[in-house]
Amino acid sequence: MERPQIAILGAGIFVRTEYIPRLSEISDLFILKAIWSRTEESARGAVDIAKKFFPNVECKWGDAGLDEITKDSSIAAVIVALAAQIQVDLSLKLLKAGKHVLQEKPAAASIDEVETALSSYNSLSTSLPCRPIWAVAENFRFEPALVEGAKFMADIGDMVNFQIIVEVPMNSSNPYFSTSWRHNFAGGYILDMGVHFVASLRLLAGCEVTAVSATTSHVDTSLPPPDNMSSVIQLENGCSGVLVTVVSAKTYQTFWRIVGLKGTLQIDVENREGKYGYLITLSTPERQTKSPFYPFSGVTEELKTFLGDVSRAILKKDDSFQAEPRISFLEGARDFAVLDAMLESGKKKGALVQVKKF
Ligand SMILES: *[C@@H]1O[C@H](CO)[C@@H](O)[C@H](O)[C@H]1NC(C)=O
Ligand SMILES: *[C@@H]1O[C@H](CO)[C@@H](O)[C@H](O)[C@H]1NC(C)=O
Repeated sequence: MERPQIAILGAGIFVRTEYIPRLSEISDLFILKAIWSRTEESARGAVDIAKKFFPNVECKWGDAGLDEITKDSSIAAVIVALAAQIQVDLSLKLLKAGKHVLQEKPAAASIDEVETALSSYNSLSTSLPCRPIWAVAENFRFEPALVEGAKFMADIGDMVNFQIIVEVPMNSSNPYFSTSWRHNFAGGYILDMGVHFVASLRLLAGCEVTAVSATTSHVDTSLPPPDNMSSVIQLENGCSGVLVTVVSAKTYQTFWRIVGLKGTLQIDVENREGKYGYLITLSTPERQTKSPFYPFSGVTEELKTFLGDVSRAILKKDDSFQAEPRISFLEGARDFAVLDAMLESGKKKGALVQVKKF
């Protein structure tokens, strides 16, 4: 298979500290042709890091650079990792130019935008010979521990209750604290991070969220509101549970706990020898089973899937090709819709809000 040429739009923290290093580990799957940013300085910063692994990568910036990438027919796919407010517009522009797109989460900045995005994307089938792949990068659906955890769900029987607890100290020591778009984003860090946890819940439960009721508040005024949320979640399978997210915590803690009729599944995030990862514990009346430690690897697995899909789509050249559903824009849209309903419920002091179906 021929290696597809790709470009990256964005030169922020995630591109510098995640995309470039992770891509360097799987550099046999693609050719990195260019990195683009709004300003030359920012593009150069990311290109300098990337050059160690991809000596021929080109530096592009501004409207002219973007135009060159859009018109370059040798570029098959683009990773879009920009401010959430502008990603959908840019992704659609690239899709219309026939490029496959992996866009960083969240899928969109509002429900209206999700709706227009889906209809514009669906209408591409009529204007292009084959509709390019539009993927949203949320990586949790690709974390081996969560995929494995979903298999263990059969061992605990029908779901009775669940808790997902997320405590994060988002303060000025955290590099993501200083990204200005997040401070001007409706839903703030609760939305930006929350889509991951909704993705993991939908993966583990194997069904959709139907309705939510949430209480939100603003504790740390240096953060965008809300930064504290308790949400009761109702699943399609009849089970309810809670998601607690505190972005203004003083300590880190993340775990999933699912109580079933036959036992309990717990997934903890741990740090072992400086590496973050997951540990799964399955408890039944008879025994407790602990999984091996799974270091974080969802970003790499997701990139491999996207690049593999791009290579296969290029070979097929028609619509008979089906991309992996876990990376589809639709999945990202569904996660967004759940968070949107939680934030709306928070504004209505916990009123029950139905989740918009996509
Ligand atoms: C944090 O959220 C919980 C529930 O959503 C609420 O009961 C609590 O009062 C909030 N804390 C602060 C300090 O706002
Ligand atoms: C941010 O939170 C972490 C964890 O509690 C702490 O170690 C660090 O000192 C905090 N930074 C600031 C600037 O408060």
